[in-house]
Amino acid sequence: MNKRVLVTGGCGFIGSHTCVELAEAGYEPIIVDNLNNSERSVVDGISAIIGRPVKFIEADCCDPVAMEKVFSENDFSSIIHFAAYKSVNESSVKPLEYFKNNLGSLLNLLTLMREHNVPNIVFSSSCTVYGQADKLPVTEKTPRKEATTPYGLTKQMCEDILKNTAAAYPQLKTIALRYFNPIGAHPSALIGELPRGIPNNLLPYVTQTAAGIRECLSVFGDDYNTPDGSCIRDYIDVTDLAKAHVCAVNRMIEGKSKSGYEVFNVGTGNGVSTLEIVKTFEKVNNLKLNYKIAGRREGDIEAIWADPTYANEELGWKAVRPLEDTLKSAWQWQQNLARKK
Ligand code: NAD
Ligand code: WQD
Repeated sequence: MNKRVLVTGGCGFIGSHTCVELAEAGYEPIIVDNLNNSERSVVDGISAIIGRPVKFIEADCCDPVAMEKVFSENDFSSIIHFAAYKSVNESSVKPLEYFKNNLGSLLNLLTLMREHNVPNIVFSSSCTVYGQADKLPVTEKTPRKEATTPYGLTKQMCEDILKNTAAAYPQLKTIALRYFNPIGAHPSALIGELPRGIPNNLLPYVTQTAAGIRECLSVFGDDYNTPDGSCIRDYIDVTDLAKAHVCAVNRMIEGKSKSGYEVFNVGTGNGVSTLEIVKTFEKVNNLKLNYKIAGRREGDIEAIWADPTYANEELGWKAVRPLEDTLKSAWQWQQNLARKK
């Protein structure tokens, strides 16, 4: 059995944690990353955790020549495709860059997979494809809403590209994992999230506020139709999320896919509010966070959380790390980052 897995975007937040879980499950990750949103030192963090060097190739997934070389020189049977631009706000300012990178990288990979007989690909999709669902929690059958940002549209389009390509080529197996809100860091605190500039996402903003890098966290809205008025999300620990990729690769390699294109929600099934995150973060890390209630953020969804039953039953995967541990790990990672600087 070929246990080498090409991990595009493997230096990123979710990719780096997935490389660790792959290695621990007996796979050999081969990272391709152009370091557009990450650092070379992440490779050292991964290698330190797994206790051996991990292979890293600096290349752009949209570059057909560079990627042809990657495919000819490396023998792998599966790909996990994380590489993409991921800033929702930025995508509205630079839509063409988002379409080029997020669609171009996938099209390039699918073309090379055909030419080199690589049968399996796991794709990073997002709960963003659901928009504000009419009924909660969302299952994989919940209809996707029209995308409101170019970023969200790229995720929907990539899902459709996979579905249509798999329908034409029966040897191709594809799995789209719809992540909910990934947070936290590896328990070693050797890898974690590396946001550039002012973070948009809640957890990096929380940890940077606790570290004194940001003055005050704005909680965007306390007048939503939720128990405490703040928005609700399904925060999924990044190491749990990483393990879902190992299950997806296992499923394809073992020939267990039910069709060429499968979709799974990867969430905990628990809806947690912004204020609950703030309070739990304070409690488990024994600190006080400077925060204020601010106005609603444009484009925010009131509430979403996953029904992960299909992933639990079919992938044999379940989120297990308690939120408290995840929030501790996020803070440990932030403190480690501060020590390095
Ligand atoms: P990240 O930015 O930390 O990692 C992405 C990695 O891909 C980076 O290391 C970046 O340098 C690399 N990259 C980007 N374009 C590339 C290209 N053309 N060629 C080679 N490398 C390239 O992001 P992440 O949070 O780890 O997200 C990984 C994937 O999961 C993305 O596809 C993202 O859209 C998706 N996703 C993320 C979240 C989230 O909240 N973090 C939620 C849902 C889905
Ligand atoms: C979470 C909650 C905010 C920052 C985004 C993408 C989505 C997916 C995950 C990729 C919200 C509140 C946040 C702050 C706050 N990514 N918040 N103050 O918006 O659920 O989703 O990341 O696919 O596509 O849209 O994540 O971390 O930005 O926000 O109060 O400073 O925290 O209002 O309720 P979001 P987030």
